[in-house]
Formats: sequence, C-alpha cells, structure tokens
Amino acid sequence: MAQNNTKIHKKLQDTDFIRYFFIFVIVLSKSKTIFKNQTMKKLSFLILMTVMMNVFLSAQDIQLPAPDKTGGKPLMQALSERKTTREFRQDKDLPLTTLSNLLWAANGFNRPDKRTAPTANNRQELELYIAVRDGLYFYDAKNHKLKLVKKGDYRKNTGMQDFVGDASLNVIFVSDLSKATSRHFALIDCGFVSQNIYLFCASEGLNTVVRGSFDKDELGKLLNLPSNQEVLLTQSVGYPK
Ligand SMILES: Cc1cc2nc3c(=O)[nH]c(=O)nc-3n(C[C@H](O)[C@H](O)[C@H](O)COP(=O)(O)O)c2cc1C
Repeated sequence: MAQNNTKIHKKLQDTDFIRYFFIFVIVLSKSKTIFKNQTMKKLSFLILMTVMMNVFLSAQDIQLPAPDKTGGKPLMQALSERKTTREFRQDKDLPLTTLSNLLWAANGFNRPDKRTAPTANNRQELELYIAVRDGLYFYDAKNHKLKLVKKGDYRKNTGMQDFVGDASLNVIFVSDLSKATSRHFALIDCGFVSQNIYLFCASEGLNTVVRGSFDKDELGKLLNLPSNQEVLLTQSVGYPK
C-alpha cells in the first residue's frame, strides 16, 4: 500500500514533467518565427525558462488528501499507549493518507487561522519539514500541501543515532525566531507539536521518538534556512519492526 502510494505519486510527477517539457520544446522551436528581434528573443527565452522552472518545481509539490478528523483511538487510550520507541521497519513507508493525518494532527489548521498546537502569543513561528525516502519537503499547513525542497533520501542526515535512517519519516521542527516571542517560548511551542505526533502515533500503532540530537548547522544548510530560522527539534516516525 505504502509502496503503491509512492509509485502512483511518482508517476503523476513524471507525467507532469514530461508534459511541461514537451510544451517547452514546442514553444522553443517556434520562437524563431514568433520573435524576429534578437533582444526580444533572448528576453522571451529567459521569461520562458523562469516560468518553466516554476511550473516544474510546483509540479513536484504534493497536495495531501484531506485529513480524516473523525478516526483514531479514544484520547485516554492513546495517552496510555504513548511511548518512545527507537526501532523502525526499513521497508515500509507511510501511505499518503496517514502522512496527511499525521501532519494535520501535528501542526495543521483546525480553525481558519489557528492550529492543532498552541504558540505563545499566537505567533505561529513553528513550521515542519519532513525527510522521506524520496526527498525533503516543507509542510505548507495552510494549504495542507508538501512543497519539495530537495530530491533524494536525506533521512539519516536528520540525526546521529543509527535508527534515524530506518524511520519512514523524520520530522524537522523549524522555528522562525524573528517571529517567536522568545527562544524560550519557541522551544516550549515545539513540545506541543511533538506530543501531538506522539499521540497520533499511539493511536495509529506507529513508533516514534522525539530527538534533540542532530547537527543543527548541517540541517540548516540542507534546508537552505535563512539566518532567522533554526532547527529546534526532530522526530522520527515509522512502523514497528
Ligand atoms: C526534548 C527531548 C529530547 C529528546 N532527545 C532524544 C534524542 O536525541 N534521542 C533519543 O533517543 N531520545 C530522545 N528523547 C526521548 C527521551 O529519551 C524519552 O522521551 C524518555 O526516555 C522517556 O521515554 P518515554 O517517551 O517513552 O516516556 C528526547 C525527549 C525529549 C522530551
């Protein structure tokens, strides 16, 4: 199921890319006849390249299915089953529906302008990135969408312990400290999101461990974070062995 979801998704991305590539080639081949002036031709080429790059990058974003807000174990049962586990199946990825539910539970919008986790003074300075088998993504909570940051498997780069690369998903907590009330509150705000993930995992029978051990600078570079943003926490999630 998990593999199928990934394959279906990849197929969609590939066909999108092929479609846009063909449009690009056709427009390029016709450009000689359309534009006689050299400067106009160069300018149009540059504009076209920029548009194509944007289209190509957005074609690699993933619109998550709407989260299921009704299911799950009763709260008291989830609380009694909440725990840290450091073992993950290497061969099983989270289906897109589970990923969608997890991210929404973690830090999604449950009201038009507010989220499942509180933040001091409602600054909403905390955003999530995820490292999965096929890439690094930014979770655009407002649109419930994954935006591709980088292709490739960077799961093991998100921590220092051996199991980190086995987890199907590593969540990276990024705080915009220029938005936060203070570093103190920014760190506290991370705790709520982490506990949301813990409870979701308890409810879904997934393993998870929140991690303070990671290379902050390496992760910051990997995500191309500006100087006002910082990785404050990480959390691994996956299926039990
Ligand atoms: C802020 C914080 C940082 C943590 N960092 C790590 C870590 O880097 N690596 C790890 O294996 N566990 C880490 N843990 C998990 C704790 O070791 C774990 O929560 C603790 O042993 C209690 O177990 P429990 O979560 O099952 O109650 C961290 C927990 C917290 C709250």
